[in-house]
Amino acid sequence: MSDVLARLLAMQSGDVPVTGGRTLAYVYDSGLEEADRVGREAVAAYAGSNGLDPTAFPSLLTMENELVGVAARLLDGPSSTVGTVTSGGTESVLLAVQTARDARPDIDRPRMVLPVTAHAAFHKAAHYFGVEAVMVDVDEEFRARPGAMAAAIDQRTVLVVASAPSYAHGVVDPVTQIAAAAAARGVRCHVDACIGGWVLPYAARLGRPVRPWTFAVEGVTSISVDLHKYAYTPKGTSILLHRTPQLRRAQFFASAKWPGYTMLNTTLQSTKSGGPLAGAWAVVNTIGDEGYLALTEKVLDGVDRLVEGIAGIEALRVVVPPESTLVAFGADATCDVFTITDAMTRAGWYVQPQLSFEGHEPTIHLSLSAATADLVEEFVAALTRAVDAAVAVGPISIDAGIVAFVQALDPAALSDEDFDGLLAAVGMTGGPSGDGGDGGVGLPDSMAEINALLDLASPPLREALLSAFLDRLLRPTATPAQNLAPPTQDQPPAG
Ligand SMILES: Cc1ncc(COP(=O)(O)O)c(C=O)c1O
Repeated sequence: MSDVLARLLAMQSGDVPVTGGRTLAYVYDSGLEEADRVGREAVAAYAGSNGLDPTAFPSLLTMENELVGVAARLLDGPSSTVGTVTSGGTESVLLAVQTARDARPDIDRPRMVLPVTAHAAFHKAAHYFGVEAVMVDVDEEFRARPGAMAAAIDQRTVLVVASAPSYAHGVVDPVTQIAAAAAARGVRCHVDACIGGWVLPYAARLGRPVRPWTFAVEGVTSISVDLHKYAYTPKGTSILLHRTPQLRRAQFFASAKWPGYTMLNTTLQSTKSGGPLAGAWAVVNTIGDEGYLALTEKVLDGVDRLVEGIAGIEALRVVVPPESTLVAFGADATCDVFTITDAMTRAGWYVQPQLSFEGHEPTIHLSLSAATADLVEEFVAALTRAVDAAVAVGPISIDAGIVAFVQALDPAALSDEDFDGLLAAVGMTGGPSGDGGDGGVGLPDSMAEINALLDLASPPLREALLSAFLDRLLRPTATPAQNLAPPTQDQPPAG
């Protein structure tokens, strides 16, 4: 192996593993080595291909049309259904919102109606495209309230959104009623099935109860479904489907207003690597329909055993019965979910903390993969130990003075120096900001106290603090990479 590749792999060993089933957020692992190998080789073979121009790379066009066809059939699309392969769930959501906005140029200040549980990608779309997000409260099981959603639609509404399922709690919204209310007002209805779209149709085929949510539901005009989640493909692919080509039209961007090639884009990217598309095509064709059915059976059986296991741990409570592969659970007053999260990390399991929101307790999120299904009993044993340890130390208590201080902070009024001080105070240490110098920020060893403090902060303060942290993380390193840059003046040559 070349020295450079050896260094790359050495660096990668510090990341959470993407296979092995012990990472329960961010990655999705089929546990099928052959599918992984084929996917990796396809990505490598197409890494240099450019999806910008299908006439120059017709194989990419073929792969995209085939994948969209598979997705449309899976999600009950009528024969008119069209779609686009995008780089991920967020891009699919952005494009759904942009398309809905641009299809209604007659509406001056467009709005979209969202349940509060909709993915943050919709807030990004609101921010990027100037579409106001009208937030609607959900019921006690975190499902959208169709009556309230319908009541929130007005003359300025260009889009109504439902999730199948929601990321944070894993529940499917009542799409039938929501889509009907949208259709009655002549408004588009997007179903965000980024995380569940490749699981729920197979769950239904396995005889599990699944609320209707696909194009079989009248009024659903577009659906986003990620391949890089439960189609278990390499990262970088999602699909945005529209019920008809007319509904998709405003998604395309063309510009001939310059002397070069006429730029013609279906997505936010223009030049785009063919790697992810080829990787997705290869994995979907390797696993196949029967393969996905088997993977879904396996992972849902794992979810059942996991829920039973959590029910057996006194301090824990599953927030709502899962409707797919996602599980959220909270802890009682004897311990802290943030302490449990850290203990799980130390034990080699990656689980994701979710901060409290609008009066709802903080929870731990698990996205189960098929590969994790084999390890559920081991996971539950590790979780039991983590909870015992968390109960032994008790819930994290934060000094009342600090609580009052954090809650009084106005993020808009904080300077860079304030953020430096605050980050250092909570253990997210860093050097001075803004000097481009050696202000390297270390990743904290333990997150429990930091999360407990963030949990006290308002959403705008969380956003500001974490953005400040990210800003300080993302600074060029002072040490030049070997062979790539001359030493800087304040950096003596090595050796
Ligand atoms: C329901 C839902 N929508 C959108 C997204 C965003 O997808 P991505 O992270 O691929 O951009 C996610 C990610 O988990 C999701 O669960």
